[in-house]
Amino acid sequence: MTRAVLVSSSAPPTVTDVDVTDPADGEVLVDVTYSSVNYKDGLALARNPGVARVDPLVPGIDVVGTVSALGAGVQDVAIGDRVVLNGAGLGETRHGGWAAHAVVPSGSLVVLPDTIDDSFAAAIGTAGFTAMLSVLALERFVEPGSGPVLVTGASGGVGTVAIALLAARGHQVTASTGRSANEASLRALGATDVVDRATLSDLGKPMQRATWAGAVDSVGGATLANVLATTKWGGAVTACGLAQDSALPTTVLPFILRAVSLLGINSVDAPLELRRRAWERLATDLDPALLAGVTRVVGLEEALTVGPQVVAGAVHGRTVVAVDR
Ligand SMILES: NC(=O)c1ccc[n+]([C@@H]2O[C@H](COP(=O)([O-])OP(=O)(O)OC[C@H]3O[C@@H](n4cnc5c(N)ncnc54)[C@H](OP(=O)(O)O)[C@@H]3O)[C@@H](O)[C@H]2O)c1
Repeated sequence: MTRAVLVSSSAPPTVTDVDVTDPADGEVLVDVTYSSVNYKDGLALARNPGVARVDPLVPGIDVVGTVSALGAGVQDVAIGDRVVLNGAGLGETRHGGWAAHAVVPSGSLVVLPDTIDDSFAAAIGTAGFTAMLSVLALERFVEPGSGPVLVTGASGGVGTVAIALLAARGHQVTASTGRSANEASLRALGATDVVDRATLSDLGKPMQRATWAGAVDSVGGATLANVLATTKWGGAVTACGLAQDSALPTTVLPFILRAVSLLGINSVDAPLELRRRAWERLATDLDPALLAGVTRVVGLEEALTVGPQVVAGAVHGRTVVAVDR
């Protein structure tokens, strides 16, 4: 048995003891140290059917810890390795990281670089990993010095890490936020300008003044349509989220008149090679002290209250879950 948060159709989410199975072929047992609270974890707590796809479910789309047992056929990791796993069905189609132990598929596990300790890895979590995937995609099109790069949903998990990563590479970063109280914090992460998200949230014309060399969007909806309409010739915009809306009310005009590229980002099913590249870059590009400034640590009980706050857009930065608390 292991102490875990359990979400089920028969009772409200609670901290309880949950069975741990032996790792099957291709699986490993991880002694979990930390997980984190992501937007999706908040949806899992609410038993959103698009996320909580098994019943009962231990939420937690991130697992950080040490491998303690191997199933048959596991080759790339060994007992004692410190590992991170983001997505890959955790906290959606199988038990996730809000538990002291987790049995996870080995094929998407990344062995952590020595410079990333367990709590830093969890502070990065899926949100930071997704921010890194977004930056890796964007930099195929946008070089530092080519103009301002916009980050929407700037106070959120993806947004805060994206600002820090882009600024570290020398990009001029503009943060879009609905919370002006966070302006100083967003500037501390590396944003040189901060705009009110209200300037982007109502649908405008399909082509507007060319402003951004590129953008990292986690908001979708009319915001993403406006971002595409204001991106310069040859620029690129990454799309990973739907905090405003899953609809994308745009036209082909930004694509055919300004050669703008829209780049899709998916962290859940990212192949192992891309995962490793992203974590290597996180190890060199992300300042732990910067992220610590927008990270708080909670225990399993408190994670139950933070999840809905993340979905409501009320949390700034990242929340780490220390599973032994
Ligand atoms: N594709 C993937 O693999 C992947 C991975 C991770 C996350 N995601 C998605 O990316 C999104 C962000 O995730 P996150 O973990 O960063 O969530 P988060 O911490 O809740 O951040 C979302 C931010 O979006 C802004 N926002 C909220 N409601 C809004 C609205 N109605 N209109 C405009 N902006 C709004 C808020 O920022 P301000 O207060 O600063 O405005 C909020 O902090 C979610 O939709 C999540 O599901 C996708």
